[in-house]
Amino acid sequence: TEMTAWLRELPKAELHLHIEGTLEPALMFALAERNGVTLPYESVEAVRAAYDFDDLPSFLTLYYQGMGVLHTRENFFDLAMAYFDRAREDGVAHVELSFDPQAHRVRGVPLEAPFEGLLAACREAESRHGISSALIMSFLRDRDPAEAMEVLEQAAPWHASIAAVGLDSAERDHPPGRFAEVFARARAMGIPGVAHAGEEGPAAYIREALETLDVCRIDHGVRCLEDADLVATLRERRIPLTVCPLSNVKLKVTPTLAEHPLPALRDAGLNVTLNSDDPAYFGGGMLDNHVACHEAFGWTRNDFLAMTRNALEAAFMAEERRDVLL
Ligand code: ADE
Ligand code: ZN
Repeated sequence: TEMTAWLRELPKAELHLHIEGTLEPALMFALAERNGVTLPYESVEAVRAAYDFDDLPSFLTLYYQGMGVLHTRENFFDLAMAYFDRAREDGVAHVELSFDPQAHRVRGVPLEAPFEGLLAACREAESRHGISSALIMSFLRDRDPAEAMEVLEQAAPWHASIAAVGLDSAERDHPPGRFAEVFARARAMGIPGVAHAGEEGPAAYIREALETLDVCRIDHGVRCLEDADLVATLRERRIPLTVCPLSNVKLKVTPTLAEHPLPALRDAGLNVTLNSDDPAYFGGGMLDNHVACHEAFGWTRNDFLAMTRNALEAAFMAEERRDVLL
């Protein structure tokens, strides 16, 4: 449709994207073959059929299993370039790729593989597609904070290439405060923080992430609406929420997109952005997420322009680049 064409042309910024969550089944099979990894699936169709999730943990099991085919820096490069090629088709102008070094380290993959592979892909995306990007190194909240601290120290050769540290994985019973020291250490190095909060976990985790981690953005944050004082704080501080509508439906954070809190978040005057989270698992990239919101909420061009502006203002981006895109 005309709206879809317009949404594709809109130069969008994607702030919440797990690069491991962009691994399409076909590439998963190709990399499994290349690296001698046995997958518990017969075919690409069987992989797709398995993507029927009850909640965040049921997704994470398959997500960590899927990324097990990533071994070398070339594998990470191929993964990211396949994503950048699709992002270009979606009209994405800027991407902040998050990755989970601990999930690779436990498999014996050194930090150098994701860092060098992803950074090379970011440079290639700039020259091939004119897409700007930034790297977010995320920590797994369901693992020991001491391990996160160790990874932060081991990442020293790449500190200048890290736009921010993040916090993801299973949220329930894993409050953000445990990572206060890690985020403080990163901040002391000049690296800001972002954190998943209020996706499956309670609104209290959003407040805790702001107060104990001093994060400048909240990933998801949709459950903030359960706490009116928190909503006021988020509004007053204009904290960006990187919301992922199709993800929330797939992980049953909301029963249907029509019932998604996005319109309520916007009505509350919050700084909302639209993102795809793990597009290979959740049935759509940036363009699909935008089109779905247009269909579910009747949002118009001005609504999408406002949210794109929110994303560009919240991005870890050189001012000259922001001026070009705004
Ligand atoms: N890791 C990858 N996707 C995630 C999500 N939606 N929530 C938490 N951790 C994740
Ligand atoms: Zn996420």
